[in-house]
Amino acid sequence: PFDEVPGRYKVRDLSLAEAGRHQIRLAEHEMPGLMALRAEYGEAKPLAGARIAGSLHMTVQTAVLIETLTALGAEVRWASCNIFSTQDEAAAAIVVGPHGSPSDPQGVPVFAWKGESLEEYWDCTEQILVWPGEQDGRHGPNMILDDGGDATMLVHLGLQYERLGAVPADTRPGEPDHADEMNVVRAVLRRSLEIDPLRWTTVAQQIEGVTEETTTGVHRLYQLAAEGSLLFPAINVNDSVTKSKFDNKYGIRHSLPDGINRATDVLMGGKVAFVAGYGDVGKGAAEAFRGQGARVIVSEVDPICALQAAMDGYQVARIEDVLGEADFFITTTGNKDVVTAEHMTRMKNKAVVGNIGHFDNEIDMAGLAALPGVERVEIKPQVHEWTFPADDDGTVRSIIVLSEGRLLNLGNATGHPSFVMSNSFSNQVIGQIELWADAARPADEREYERQVYRLPKHLDEKVARLHLDALGVRLTELSKSQADYLGVPVDGPYKPEHYRY
Ligand code: NAI
Repeated sequence: PFDEVPGRYKVRDLSLAEAGRHQIRLAEHEMPGLMALRAEYGEAKPLAGARIAGSLHMTVQTAVLIETLTALGAEVRWASCNIFSTQDEAAAAIVVGPHGSPSDPQGVPVFAWKGESLEEYWDCTEQILVWPGEQDGRHGPNMILDDGGDATMLVHLGLQYERLGAVPADTRPGEPDHADEMNVVRAVLRRSLEIDPLRWTTVAQQIEGVTEETTTGVHRLYQLAAEGSLLFPAINVNDSVTKSKFDNKYGIRHSLPDGINRATDVLMGGKVAFVAGYGDVGKGAAEAFRGQGARVIVSEVDPICALQAAMDGYQVARIEDVLGEADFFITTTGNKDVVTAEHMTRMKNKAVVGNIGHFDNEIDMAGLAALPGVERVEIKPQVHEWTFPADDDGTVRSIIVLSEGRLLNLGNATGHPSFVMSNSFSNQVIGQIELWADAARPADEREYERQVYRLPKHLDEKVARLHLDALGVRLTELSKSQADYLGVPVDGPYKPEHYRY
């Protein structure tokens, strides 16, 4: 059951729009950065002419981002960047728009619902890259706003296959680089090239830039740039200090326990929690467990992060050594194969296993499903109990896996809270303005090439400033002589580029 107008929108249920609108209204109050940008730029409309294809969790907070982009003059089409992360009421409210009604939707095209199949997910991603109605349907977006890099990947891969003259044959289990999801992507691209053999050339030519939200997507962009195959300039939003040091850390500190509680309601206090990875996300995760009274064990491959974890008072161990000890296993690495099927067979009975890194390859779900005799029971959507065959002594153990190994804070709960997302999304909006303004300059005056850039520090500081009043922060001002003594301008930036916060 969907509410759908082909090419225009596809969401679960437009009658949820009113509920979504109430939540958006409350979120606006908690997103002072985005609202300040609307006030500052609403009249000048610096995004006029921009056609933004957005691939980012379709939540209430993202709804406020979308309506900020349109308030600044952009046209927008949106899909979620994860099959479980859409809040259907937010998607409905965005399609209906602030002035429309479910019978007369006037808002932004959205293609997203909670619980998409992989085929549906990639269809939705393709939908945001088609701007219907003009130039034989070849009228695409001219900007991408990405989270995890799937929209950017589809354009790059589409163009690669187009130039190759064929989409490679599907891979099968056991073959090199086999992933079922890649076969789904290939099917989408095969179909698109049958309809229009020059489809991806047309799309790629029009795109002026991408702003990327998360660590994993940024990693993909740097790889493309290093190979020399990045097709357009990219702004790395993740590594703005006001993004990764806030969203990744404090956002996770809030939304990880939220996901675990909504999924299981298992007490964390007094238990043992294992956190794989002690980067920004891992630091937030470990602190959340400690705040609930759990004893936390961290694993790391990087000696600096391992030492940090130890100095912060956590035990640092390898997963193999604590399988029978931990009650929770959470992956935060952005790496693959961190929890293997074999690990899971040796975990404590009823251990809760979940991932909060961007992709679902941190936990080997395919390996788990392939174990002889293993049984899977759905407790409720996005919560599954996996029971193993009896041990030699007859004991039967099971584990609880959250969101089928995908981002649990968005699959089992509603992701990060508004206030922290206001920081991240203010960086997104500023990044879009930067790249779009640059695209309007004559070619020889452009600042951005086909590389990956971070926003300048004065803009990072601006994002932070926009959030101080709401928290009652009274900032100390430097005197001129103090500023001169430190060698910084009175109004900032206050730190050199290499400062780590
Ligand atoms: P990061 O690079 O700061 O931290 C990852 C850490 O994992 C690194 O310190 C690395 O040394 C460690 N690591 C790598 N392989 C490991 C292994 N096999 N065992 C133990 N540790 C290992 O990255 P960050 O910013 O913490 O992001 C992590 C992931 O979370 C990324 O995929 C990112 O996209 C995602 N993310 C998810 C969010 C959410 O809402 N769920 C929010 C922000 C980021």
